[in-house]
Amino acid sequence: MGRYARYLRMLRSQRGTLLGAVALGALAGAASGFGLPFFLQKVFRDIFEAGAGRSFGEVLLVASFLPLVFLLRGITLYFNQYLLNAVSLGLLGEIRQQLFDKLQRLPLLYFDRKRSGDLLARILADTSQIQDALVAATREILLQPFVVLGGVGYLVYLGLTNRDAALLLVLLLLVPLMTLPVVYIGRHLRHRGRQTQRSLGELTGALSENLLAAAEVRAFNLEEAERSRFRGELARFHRASMKAVKYNQATQPLMEFVAAAAIAAMFVAAYSRQIPFETFAAIGAALFFTIDGCKRLVRVANEMSKSAGAFERIESVLDEPETVPVPDHPAAVGRLRGEVRFDQVAFAYGDGVPALYGIDLTVLPGTVCALVGPSGAGKSTFTKLVPRFYDVSAGTLTIDGTDVRRMDPAALRGQIALVPQSPVLFNTAILENIRIGRPDATREEIVEAARAAYADEFITELPGGYDAMVGENARRLSGGQRQRLALARAFLRDAPILILDEATSALDAESEQKIQEALAKLCRGRTVFIVAHRFSTIRIADRILFFDQGGIAADGDFETMMREPVFRRLYEKQTG
Ligand SMILES: Nc1ncnc2c1ncn2[C@@H]1O[C@H](COP(=O)(O)OP(=O)(O)OP(=O)(O)O)[C@@H](O)[C@H]1O
Ligand SMILES: [Mg+2]
Repeated sequence: MGRYARYLRMLRSQRGTLLGAVALGALAGAASGFGLPFFLQKVFRDIFEAGAGRSFGEVLLVASFLPLVFLLRGITLYFNQYLLNAVSLGLLGEIRQQLFDKLQRLPLLYFDRKRSGDLLARILADTSQIQDALVAATREILLQPFVVLGGVGYLVYLGLTNRDAALLLVLLLLVPLMTLPVVYIGRHLRHRGRQTQRSLGELTGALSENLLAAAEVRAFNLEEAERSRFRGELARFHRASMKAVKYNQATQPLMEFVAAAAIAAMFVAAYSRQIPFETFAAIGAALFFTIDGCKRLVRVANEMSKSAGAFERIESVLDEPETVPVPDHPAAVGRLRGEVRFDQVAFAYGDGVPALYGIDLTVLPGTVCALVGPSGAGKSTFTKLVPRFYDVSAGTLTIDGTDVRRMDPAALRGQIALVPQSPVLFNTAILENIRIGRPDATREEIVEAARAAYADEFITELPGGYDAMVGENARRLSGGQRQRLALARAFLRDAPILILDEATSALDAESEQKIQEALAKLCRGRTVFIVAHRFSTIRIADRILFFDQGGIAADGDFETMMREPVFRRLYEKQTG
């Protein structure tokens, strides 16, 4: 029951609508389950049996009862469905929104572990499965119980007004009997549903990976391998879906068989007890609605069982702990000076293997630190700890004397400008892409930042200039142009701390020089951590941190570092 509390909470704002729908469903259900059998009995007794004894007016009155019942049923049903659809679509929207919101809050560590394709499937495919279940449920769930109640109610009413009450009660016992196969089948459906959704996640994963690697697939002639991988995933999905179909489709015939047995029993009883025809017809109608209502409810139950897996997959995202928590009483973060201190810091990614350990370091405000060292030494990891993309596993990291874990991540990140190795641009105008650096910046300020980053030149040459769209994945911009846009963002942000992972891709001499000049300008007066691949960058640094195997092996200014054999070897290798 605990699991439903979450959804009930989401429904709280729609309480009124839901209540209206329940009332309308009760009316519509009673009109079918009770109204129609009642009408049948009346028609047969009053019109056919009394025959010519009835006046035309009386016949008309009795007959008009039928369209009236249907009119009542139709109107109430229409509004019942309308309101219920509004509620279920609202619920679905709320689930999707909460999932998306949660993804914004989840720590980066979560995304390292999960495939983005699988997450995509959770937001789209799993919620679609739930949508199917909800649509099936909305059609029946508030209506059929009342139809069944109406039908059963009529049977009880007959039983009370008829001497064959015992017989009717026996018939009623058949109803619970019908639900027996359902319990068994439901269990299987839940299991299969889980498999289907998992396999759909794999399928979406394969698809999104393929789309991201469109160029690689062609470059390495992977088309055939990719096709057969996709075919394999599709086949697995197909098998899982067909197993669900097998169980799902078995329910109806089983229930109909039980229903037919009930009707056969009724024939025998009617014959031996000589039940009058009108009673017989009314019992038939009431039984029909009872059985049909049950059948429909079972279909909903099946659909719900099939969605159990989808619900679980969604809930596992919603319940994922947020391991970079916002403290309850965050320390006030004004404009930082930028004194960064690592005190015996160690850090391990999810796998537990330490990527950094024994980091002990104080960086004074305004110091430009170049991070160098072999690949995999921990340079990027080091830079990710500062903005709390990950929290340290041991030790403390303080900025201006405050433990970063006591700061609100958003406030902290507001004081940091980040230029990643391969900057991501959003599919909007150039102007908006730079504005990310500071959302309240004016157009003039943006242009000024672009000038400082030597980006203005190429931007004004684009058709549309600053209003040109960058296109999906910024395919229309070169690597050097993207880097300059990222630098422009950093200029605009004007933060006391700057973190820069230098691009490894080679640039032409002119771009390279422009980026170096922009960089030197950008570094001035800030605490800077720059993962440096170019020696021209290392030369502008006040301090060089040499990383090796997760630790800082050497640390000092350029002259000191040139006396360190490890650094000297690296330097000489690069400068030839
Ligand atoms: N998201 C991650 N999940 C698990 N392990 C990771 C992750 N990112 C990096 N690592 C591991 O942490 C170690 C340090 O990686 P890091 O990216 O910090 O190296 P680097 O010094 O930046 O290397 P490069 O110069 O190649 O960029 C490596 O062993 C790497 O395999
Ligand atoms: Mg790196």
